[in-house]
Amino acid sequence: MLKLHNLSKVYRSDEVETVALNSINIEIEQGEFVAIMGPSGCGKSTLLNIVGMLDSPSSGEYIFMDEDVAGYSEAQLSEIRKHNIGFIFQSFNLIDELTVEENIELALLYHNIPASERKARVAKVMDKVGIAHRASHMPSQLSGGQQQRVAVARAVVGDQAMILADEPTGNLDSAHGQEVMEMLQSLNEEGTTIVMVTHSPAHADYARRTINLFDGHVVTENLRAAE
Ligand SMILES: Nc1ncnc2c1ncn2[C@@H]1O[C@H](COP(=O)(O)OP(=O)(O)OP(=O)(O)O)[C@@H](O)[C@H]1O
Ligand SMILES: [Mg+2]
Repeated sequence: MLKLHNLSKVYRSDEVETVALNSINIEIEQGEFVAIMGPSGCGKSTLLNIVGMLDSPSSGEYIFMDEDVAGYSEAQLSEIRKHNIGFIFQSFNLIDELTVEENIELALLYHNIPASERKARVAKVMDKVGIAHRASHMPSQLSGGQQQRVAVARAVVGDQAMILADEPTGNLDSAHGQEVMEMLQSLNEEGTTIVMVTHSPAHADYARRTINLFDGHVVTENLRAAE
């Protein structure tokens, strides 16, 4: 699905240079569930943002579905991104002024899908994540766990091939965190590629492979034993 080759990201401000990613090599197959772990500041979010085309590398190659996208413009990246990649963030990132249903539907507006089909797809995905009974609520009227279910629905409603999740359970209590993990697991079983940053070893256990970062380097990769 994707391959990073000698990929680096350097942030430069006036005097300071921060090497957030230092010559990373990672390959992720279609259908994989990969966890990314490591201490605060080691480059996890930077990596996820580059993989998700929200940010560009300073050097190196990024091959996504057989195309080297490392030098692509923002407009080219956003075109690939909206058709292939869904995001889930720690802070849910829902739009406060829109209802649950509208928040999810927003992810389909780019796709040139007729309104009636959009409604049908949103209804189906709301059912799937168990939020249909709150369709007309505003995000502020939902619990954290419910808000994250809406975010999961928004990430998958466009049939995205890959979901990127940056500490998706970071703001949830353990019961709601586990619910979100089970949703990700079932999406992965249906074929969605998942790359998830987490600080929780228990949640990393849902992944087949864990990539450990330290100081912008990949230090180890662990494969979970087959069950
Ligand atoms: N926009 C930016 N400008 C300058 N430096 C940045 C920027 N974004 C991140 N960095 C630096 O890059 C390094 C990696 O940051 P990153 O956010 O990827 O860490 P992280 O592993 O996600 O940490 P956390 O677990 O705290 O979320 C850090 O040293 C950070 O200070
Ligand atoms: Mg981070």
